[in-house]
Amino acid sequence: MAFKPANKIQDLQYFGEFGGVNPSISDSSTYTFLSAKTMFDTFEGNADGCYLYSRHSTPSNLYLGQALAAMEGTETANVAASGMGAITPAILQLCKAGDHVVSSRTIYGGTYAFLKNFAPKLNIETSFVDITKLEEVEKSITENTKIIYCETVSNPLLEIADIEGLSKIAKKHNLQLLVDNTFSPLSISPAALGADVVLHSLTKFINGSSDTMGGVTCGSQEFIDALRNVNDGANMLLGPAMDSLRAASILKNLRTLHIRIKQHSENALYLAEKFEADGLKTVYPGLKSHSGHALFKKMMNKEYGFGGMLTLDVGGIDKANELMELMQEKNLGYLAVSLGFYKTLFSAPGSSTSSEIPEEEQKEMGLSDGLIRFSIGLDNDIERTYKMMRECMVEVGVL
Ligand SMILES: Cc1ncc(COP(=O)(O)O)c(C=O)c1O
Repeated sequence: MAFKPANKIQDLQYFGEFGGVNPSISDSSTYTFLSAKTMFDTFEGNADGCYLYSRHSTPSNLYLGQALAAMEGTETANVAASGMGAITPAILQLCKAGDHVVSSRTIYGGTYAFLKNFAPKLNIETSFVDITKLEEVEKSITENTKIIYCETVSNPLLEIADIEGLSKIAKKHNLQLLVDNTFSPLSISPAALGADVVLHSLTKFINGSSDTMGGVTCGSQEFIDALRNVNDGANMLLGPAMDSLRAASILKNLRTLHIRIKQHSENALYLAEKFEADGLKTVYPGLKSHSGHALFKKMMNKEYGFGGMLTLDVGGIDKANELMELMQEKNLGYLAVSLGFYKTLFSAPGSSTSSEIPEEEQKEMGLSDGLIRFSIGLDNDIERTYKMMRECMVEVGVL
């Protein structure tokens, strides 16, 4: 039966302490115990329903985690203060010195920098591969490999990972498949396709209002318990804990995610089709010309579309900058990194969010300096937006 992530979110009913329609916010960093024995048991992880200290968990964080686990179809989840605050502990929990990671080479620049520059300090090595070539992924596995890491829809090249294919490889070699689903919440459900751990930067579409950072790790109860373990849990000990006030506000925004994603997808598809017809080099998973189009279609929960992210290659960084500045001047969006906002955001990833990736490697993976990454907003009249964007493109000579 088809997986219905929005129904899973809708079916969660939480009441506030005084019958409020939203759950009460736990405005405390620490919690009392009626008996010293319960405090001891809680430290040992044996007192379900008792709160200890907010770096470990809070009622508000558990509500949000539960909702995100429902959305992704995993047993449970742990929220963190940022996407990187979820991603790096998950990797460190699974890898020790001497271990090896096989990672997609087209991933968010921060994750790439962590695996390339930081993890080696702990003697954790990574092979970066073209994730769309399953035989290359399998060939890179060594006896020390613990993780296959990828993004469902990669940042910024929008390559699509074959989650089922990768899961088969992971299972065959007894590895964990970690999937960052930040670009495709609701549209694709990686756990249903075989991912062991699903990660998100909540900072993006899920929160959707660009007013806070957040991250989540969705996985098995055993893995999430391990991350929170007071003796050797990476989230508990490294400390990227989300604040309860933020968890409560993200949970409220999550309630409208399905409506927003549909509108982001509809608008992005409209613009991608128009720009492609205009002759611009357009990459969008919803276009038939996209190499991962059929794969995305096979994996997707249909009603949410192909997501809000698209890229245009305008030939060079100078043209890209000129166009982005003009579009901002005309109030078509903001020249800003990040994504998933109500308003369109655009940036040139080669010199911003992917600048951690050396120029040579950017070239090799097809990340050219004229590439503009768009996170398409919730514009009600996308035809008007298209016409205005087109005028900007004509003015700077891109069209
Ligand atoms: C795909 C992806 N994963 C993870 C992150 C990191 O998330 P955060 O900035 O919330 O730490 C980002 C941020 O840009 C991202 O685009």
